[in-house]
Amino acid sequence: MPIIAPSLLASNFLRLEDECKMLNESDADWYHLDVMDGRFVPNISYGMPIIEQLRKMTKKTFDVHLMIEEPERYAEAFKKAGADRLTVHIEACRHLHRNLQQIHSLGMKAGVALNPHSPIELLTDVLQDIDTVLVMSVNPGFGGQEFIQHTCQKIRNLRRMVHDRGLPTLIEIDGGVTVENAAMIVRSGADVLVAGSTVFHSKDPKATIHTLKNIA
Ligand code: DX5
Ligand code: ZN
Repeated sequence: MPIIAPSLLASNFLRLEDECKMLNESDADWYHLDVMDGRFVPNISYGMPIIEQLRKMTKKTFDVHLMIEEPERYAEAFKKAGADRLTVHIEACRHLHRNLQQIHSLGMKAGVALNPHSPIELLTDVLQDIDTVLVMSVNPGFGGQEFIQHTCQKIRNLRRMVHDRGLPTLIEIDGGVTVENAAMIVRSGADVLVAGSTVFHSKDPKATIHTLKNIA
């Protein structure tokens, strides 16, 4: 069964407490928290203060996706705010190996996100130090975009790379995941499904999460 990580970006910010209660009662495994700085991506979302408040609402894993420049400047602050897993973009890291060491030394699982144009081969010499590879299936910055079809081939290639090396690395897919394409994504080799609009804009978010969890 895939790990389900609803993205709060598509939730109702006026009713975050109710959204948390819904997630807590649901089959959701992780909270996927999208942080944008208006520089790495052309949009700004939310940061530490919101995550700190959300932390009081749940014991579920916080999967924080940093779409920001110089993530090393904020890793400790996100740990303090409640992050369990911290994902940085390879395109934003000049010294990725050092960034991963920093995240681990703070006691978090380390993730690396790849934009649609970034090849998985960039990870060849660092894969053993990564807990999660987050494959972007849309260009980061906005929810509600259409899934880029080529991503499935990318997932299959990455699955083979991880398997051949005998690593426990999780493969996470983020962007445009729907009830219709989720089975295909899982069959391609994804372990974690992020879903924003599909969950929060559906009539019955809890039922949608249940469907995604039991998709395969
Ligand atoms: C996009 C974010 C995603 C986004 C996904 O930049 O990283 O996590 O919230 O939203 P949907 O599922 O609506 O594509
Ligand atoms: Zn995300």
